[in-house]
Amino acid sequence: MTEFRHLLGIEGLDPPAVTALLDLAESYVLLNRSGKTQRDLLRGRTLINLFFEDSTRTRTSFELAGKRLGADVINMSVSTSSVTKGETLLDTAATLNAMNCDLLVVRHNRSGAPALLAQKVDAAVINAGDGTHEHPTQALLDALTIRRRKGRISGLTVAICGDIAHSRVARSNILLLTMLGNFVRVVGPPTLMPAGIEAPGVEVYHDMALGLAGADIVMALRLQKERMTGGMIPSTREFFNFYGLDRAKLGFAKPDALVMHPGPMNRGVEIDSDVADDPLRSVIREQVEMGVAVRMAVLDRLGRRKF
Ligand code: NCD
Repeated sequence: MTEFRHLLGIEGLDPPAVTALLDLAESYVLLNRSGKTQRDLLRGRTLINLFFEDSTRTRTSFELAGKRLGADVINMSVSTSSVTKGETLLDTAATLNAMNCDLLVVRHNRSGAPALLAQKVDAAVINAGDGTHEHPTQALLDALTIRRRKGRISGLTVAICGDIAHSRVARSNILLLTMLGNFVRVVGPPTLMPAGIEAPGVEVYHDMALGLAGADIVMALRLQKERMTGGMIPSTREFFNFYGLDRAKLGFAKPDALVMHPGPMNRGVEIDSDVADDPLRSVIREQVEMGVAVRMAVLDRLGRRKF
């Protein structure tokens, strides 16, 4: 099993490390459901949530996870407009170092920013989403959700649909799912498909009927307009017609296929409320619950050690 000091991406982990994190997270699901706490685990440790980009569930769940393990949690939101230069980021790192922070959770609009910080701070750095690069805790919580529902996390066909080009969620999921022996299909218009996405275990589709045929899991992604340079889709209505996940398109997948979405959802754009809110098919709320457990596992794994 690879030893890791920071969690910068799924890249760099191996199957035993991923499985160990999922097993630890599973124990936290049970603990959270039982209402018990483990507040002595990270007592005296400081966790700083450093968010240069907006977030609801990721920031809140890291905060909750840290508090449930007894850490002192500080939230810092930095406006992207005031901090855009590498130099400023390194100044921030120096400030955080002076505060003796143990765990640093970073979200940034630039790919690679958490890796840069990891070189400059003493704390364990956790990537909470960097540009279009990676979002490792999202892939882990998705894997935990799938494993609990399907009883395994290998040999499954997972269709990831929509705005693949701008999605760090897609990238981390592709790495994790193929590493564990699943088959990934990325489905979307050519304009939203990044170059070089094909890899062993990854197939590209531009048609939902073909891409979803026989899928065990259908994951819809948000159309990330804030990262688009314009003109990448004709209109949101047309996008919905071709790629929006509705009851008819879900019908191409297996009858027991699960519907996932990392949130926040654009209802009526990449997903229809009819399937998003279907308790028999949608596991979107469960993904949020798994998010807290996975983040507790990651904080536990990285926060106990003193470097
Ligand atoms: C995702 C993100 O920020 O990358 N959201 C999340 O963390 N739940 C996906 C998105 O913003 O669409």
